[in-house]
Amino acid sequence: MPDPAHSQPVSKPIPESTFDALADALVERGYAVLDNLLGEALITALRAEFDHPDCQFKTAGIGREEDHAIALDIRGDRICWIEGGSAAAAAFLAAMETLRLALNRRLFMGLFDYESHLAYYPVGTFYKKHVDAFVGRSNRVLSTVLYLNPSWAEGDGGELVLYDEAGAAVVEKLCPEAGRLVVFLSERFPHEVLPARRERYSVAGWYRVNSNTTGRVDPPA
Ligand code: OGA
Ligand code: MN
Repeated sequence: MPDPAHSQPVSKPIPESTFDALADALVERGYAVLDNLLGEALITALRAEFDHPDCQFKTAGIGREEDHAIALDIRGDRICWIEGGSAAAAAFLAAMETLRLALNRRLFMGLFDYESHLAYYPVGTFYKKHVDAFVGRSNRVLSTVLYLNPSWAEGDGGELVLYDEAGAAVVEKLCPEAGRLVVFLSERFPHEVLPARRERYSVAGWYRVNSNTTGRVDPPA
């Protein structure tokens, strides 16, 4: 029996006008919400990755390197880093590479590479307010979250809340609906994941600049 997530190449071309709109939104507001960018087939295939035995999920931690620690009072998601070995993962990484090049051409952001992980939030879990990158202390510059949850309803919780730079005012509250891609400047938006009342599936990722002078690397996988 063929396994659809691991045998079918899946992708969908992205029109240049979409990249234009994304670049404009990043310049004007620092974040963008793109619905149905990658096509339903890829979203379905990425969701199927979570059920594949090759995917070894582990409880996510906080901090980097020696500071790395599990802290369920801060975040309760379980993650699996994406390596690109399956057709779905390869198609996702190819799309994110296209996006990287498109943004570099338009905004000269110098995005150098991209790292990403599958994230599973069991019922009742959350991720408290945090920033993905501290100003000048990280090479993560642009955060992405792709959601894989069909028919997410109002009462299901699990919204992504973006705050202003001071972490005080809510800028946007977004449902993790399948096909939605949220892109935001990593240093500028404190954000949180509200408690999920239904199992919540997503792919979180970060474009990085090449700054090995910072002496900081990402948490060990
Ligand atoms: C993260 C994160 C947001 C989300 O993984 O750093 O903030 O909506 N995820 O899943
Ligand atoms: Mn985050």
